[in-house]
Amino acid sequence: MPGNIVLIGFMGAGKTAVGRALSERLGMQLFDTDRMVEESAGRRIAELWDLEGEEGFRAREHDAVLQACASSGHVIACGGGAVLEIRNYGILKGAGTVVYLRAPATVLRERVGIALDRPLLREEGAFDKLLAERQPAYESAADVIVDTDGRTPEEVAADIEGRLP
Ligand code: S3P
Repeated sequence: MPGNIVLIGFMGAGKTAVGRALSERLGMQLFDTDRMVEESAGRRIAELWDLEGEEGFRAREHDAVLQACASSGHVIACGGGAVLEIRNYGILKGAGTVVYLRAPATVLRERVGIALDRPLLREEGAFDKLLAERQPAYESAADVIVDTDGRTPEEVAADIEGRLP
């Protein structure tokens, strides 16, 4: 369904916070795929990951993407890996305007902190490796790229509103 605003970006990009600010600003309902996965599983992502592995998480995430994209007029905050999954890519691209929330590595790292609840970052060196792999993919998936460094979620939301088609 077109007419949605789809927020993508790396862990720590502020997708949830900007999603909240944008949904309030525009009076649109917010779908947050991570929260939808947690609700469907009845547990936190880290715990789900330990029980069902990345495969189980991605299957639930795909269901969340399908549900969020089934209707129009929503803000959809995606988990950092959602748009990179081939089965989600076309659905998210067809759902509306894809907005990449971009931030420098130092800022992302600071926001992510010790990342206990982000299983992909448990391994040493995973942050830099994943970021290098993913940045070009986010850029090419995006219709709009918004820099978030030094700006509040409300400021970013206002910028996004001004750049919608
Ligand atoms: C992931 C990002 C996380 C969450 C899961 C996997 C990823 O969401 O979906 O841990 O693959 O980048 P955030 O981007 O909201 O941290």
